[in-house]
Amino acid sequence: MRFIILENKVEVGKYVGQLFLDEAKKNPHLIMGLATGSSPLETYQFIAENYRSQGVSFAEAKSFNLDEYLNCPIKKETYRSFMEENLFSKIDIKTQNTNFPDPDNPEHYDQRILEAGGVDIQLLGIGQNGHIGFNEPGTSFSSLTHIIELTKSTREANKRFFGGDLSLVPTEAVSMGLATIMKSRHIVLIANDITKIKMVEVLLKGLTDETYPMSVLNSHPNCDIVLTRDIFKIAFKAD
Ligand code: GLP
Repeated sequence: MRFIILENKVEVGKYVGQLFLDEAKKNPHLIMGLATGSSPLETYQFIAENYRSQGVSFAEAKSFNLDEYLNCPIKKETYRSFMEENLFSKIDIKTQNTNFPDPDNPEHYDQRILEAGGVDIQLLGIGQNGHIGFNEPGTSFSSLTHIIELTKSTREANKRFFGGDLSLVPTEAVSMGLATIMKSRHIVLIANDITKIKMVEVLLKGLTDETYPMSVLNSHPNCDIVLTRDIFKIAFKAD
């Protein structure tokens, strides 16, 4: 596991966005694992603003998003809408090449990823309770794509997207499992908000414990944790 420390969110977006552009340039058939939430926003902005000038095309690339809400009452807040708004509508990826897990047939998603050749580069944010995708604390490290009941703390953290109204936040989601995520050839996790410090400290200790879903990453052979300096200073007790 490599820790990469950058000054601020914009620098993190540039760094991670450039990783994706470099990969897509080398391999036009790139299979991308994508995430939602605020953590990857600067990354998506950097990709959208720079792909053309760098001679990159996503026309042959495919994406597999981590997760999706079930029964989301506000269409704009579905993760597909989020991706359309923040990335897909701004690059030349084909809609038919963008994939989301299907709640009616969750495990089929693992099959589809496998048939596409497996994820080359997987982007992750991190929940305040350590979830990746929507794999809440206690999820088995051997889980494949599945339906999951969201914890109160996750729904509280996400209610800001639903006008602050907890009753509008979905109670269930479908998510890639932890074993699904671990099959990716390269994983890049962004921690660019101070609320993620505790989980960064757990990663740093090298702990592997299902109470902390993201700690599964400690045993991945090619995983980058990209941090902002404020988190680094506290978690590493550094200057
Ligand atoms: C959601 C998503 C996760 C995301 C997490 C953190 O619950 N399912 O994939 O990583 O929130 O979100 P944020 O980046 O907004 O802090």
